[in-house]
Amino acid sequence: MEFIKYEEQGEVGIVTISREKALNALNSQVLDELNATFDAIDVNKIRCVVLTGAGEKSFVAGADIGEMSTLTKAEGEAFGKKGNDVFLKIENFPIPVIAAVNGFALGGGCEISMSCDIRICSDNAVFGQPEVGLGITPGFGGTQRLARLVGPGMAKQMIYTARNIKADEALRIGLVNAVYTQEELLPAALKMASGIAKNAPIAVRNCKKAINDGLELNMKDAVALEEKLFGDCFETADQRYGMEFFLDKNKEKVKEPFKNC
Ligand code: CAA
Repeated sequence: MEFIKYEEQGEVGIVTISREKALNALNSQVLDELNATFDAIDVNKIRCVVLTGAGEKSFVAGADIGEMSTLTKAEGEAFGKKGNDVFLKIENFPIPVIAAVNGFALGGGCEISMSCDIRICSDNAVFGQPEVGLGITPGFGGTQRLARLVGPGMAKQMIYTARNIKADEALRIGLVNAVYTQEELLPAALKMASGIAKNAPIAVRNCKKAINDGLELNMKDAVALEEKLFGDCFETADQRYGMEFFLDKNKEKVKEPFKNC
């Protein structure tokens, strides 16, 4: 891998987009390597992933403008599909993915963060969908996920005006959950990830599936989906142990790690 670094800390995987010379912009190679990196993560061992960008300035400054500048209509559509396929993989990844947004998150950078389950950012983060200033639409899911996350009115304002917003405004509109100093961001993301990793893995996965898939359904079908995923947790060793532990009146007992079964 030239542009993606992957490391593991316990049950947390850390994926770093590392193309600092171009502020971690997403060209085809970066997208291919991201795809292969997520494919290679052993989700039976790893329970949460943190996605971040290398360096102090930029998370991801967008899709690669140089690569896009000469594309034909058909090639443009194929490039959009390449990005969308990877981002859908992240969105539907069985375990949670936290975006630790450490600087510019523009265009494809804002879009990849929105394919993650949770976004937190540093105080120097800048979000935006500047595509209409380049003569294109957001093409890696921005028109869809931004509207779902912050509502159509705010999404339309950001996309039509191509105006960037800073971390405090991203927090205000609900695009990120929390803002940290640059030094605190990665430790905070890792702390959140290891907190998630300590919870029962089958239950966490089923929560992700229930929320993601349920949002596509009407309420009646959505709660039916929830019932199925709720029921799926029963008879697992983790459910039996988690409930036994709660019911045990011996408060001296230390909770054992969940086993993912
Ligand atoms: N694509 C390709 N290269 C990029 C890039 C991008 N999206 N963003 C930055 N770079 C490159 C610059 O060309 C520059 O390279 P050189 O050193 O070889 O000249 C290097 O990264 C550093 O960038 P700057 O000198 O511009 O740094 P700056 O601090 O002055 O500005 C910035 C930072 C405001 C983020 C500016 O780089 C910028 O505006 N970048 C483009 C942001 C953008 O428009 N993103 C959306 C792309 S379109 C998209 O993403 C479509 C989609 O939905 C799929």
